[in-house]
Amino acid sequence: MGKEPGSTKFQTDFRRHLREQNISGNLVHLLCEIAEASKYVINAVRTGDLGVAGTSNLYGEEQLALDVLSDRILRKRLMYSGVVCNIASEEMDEIFQVTSNPLGMFSVAYDPLDGSSLVDVNLAVGTIVGIYQGDNLLQPGRNMVGAMYILYGPRVSMVYSVGKGVYEFTMNHLMEFTLTREKVQMKPSGDIYSPGGLRKNYTPENEAYIRYLENKGSKLRYSGGFVPDINQILMKGKGIFMYPALTDSPNGKLRLLFELNPMAYLIEQAGGAATNGCMPILDMTPEGLDQRAPIYIGCKEDVAKATEFLNGVCA
Ligand code: AHG
Ligand code: MN
Ligand code: MN
Repeated sequence: MGKEPGSTKFQTDFRRHLREQNISGNLVHLLCEIAEASKYVINAVRTGDLGVAGTSNLYGEEQLALDVLSDRILRKRLMYSGVVCNIASEEMDEIFQVTSNPLGMFSVAYDPLDGSSLVDVNLAVGTIVGIYQGDNLLQPGRNMVGAMYILYGPRVSMVYSVGKGVYEFTMNHLMEFTLTREKVQMKPSGDIYSPGGLRKNYTPENEAYIRYLENKGSKLRYSGGFVPDINQILMKGKGIFMYPALTDSPNGKLRLLFELNPMAYLIEQAGGAATNGCMPILDMTPEGLDQRAPIYIGCKEDVAKATEFLNGVCA
């Protein structure tokens, strides 16, 4: 953070901040490599072609060219980082093994460009990353050693935690990330709600919860981008995001490994909570790379209230 208002001289850059966190040099290196990769992703987002690449991913969804490009940028960077053994990406069908020797290495699960279809309409998008020690990617998110997201909005910001609080860095005119918020904290409850999915497909329990939020005067804030929607709640320190089970998709839409776990880690680190309605997101053991789950994430009391409304009816 700038020690003198308006001064760029005393800004704390990401690497220097990480070195002060008392974490392994390999983890510092990995986090800095991801931050570096994001500079190429934002360049692709700003200047890359729009439109469809003509391929499809694991979920049979159309992949935009920018998805493919962002995936490649991150994968290459991680492959040559020297500290990564396994990689899982929302855009890859299988785990990509960099080395079979996990000693001192990390495994990384990421969504290279979440909300990629929003680029066409010039809304904010982001990269989401979860980091595990060793080679096992199919373990509860609680075992992560770090998580981060990079938000490509009017400004580029990066929010990360290695279990020592949540920090926000913002990209300056030299494309360096400098510290802008320290030890981000959530309030116990809030007045923002961000509901995903078609409301006509909500279950009666979820419909009742939404009515409760509306009646208590919560403001609707939903952009359709998971990263900006979570960022708003985290940085304002209040509110709840939900993507519930729907009548036609009982596990909701969002993916445990690539989207839910990293966000749940960051929100819990900031004093908030994240549940699938029955258990904390971070305690779920993933059964596969493509596992989805409903999510209620944000202020502790708002998440507890959602659980109350669900009354044990989970996916
Ligand atoms: P992706 O672009 O990686 O497939 O994910 C999009 C996600 C997420 O950003 C957002 O929260 C959600 O889809 C929005 O879904 P709905 O349009 O169904 O609300
Ligand atoms: Mn996504
Ligand atoms: Mn994506």
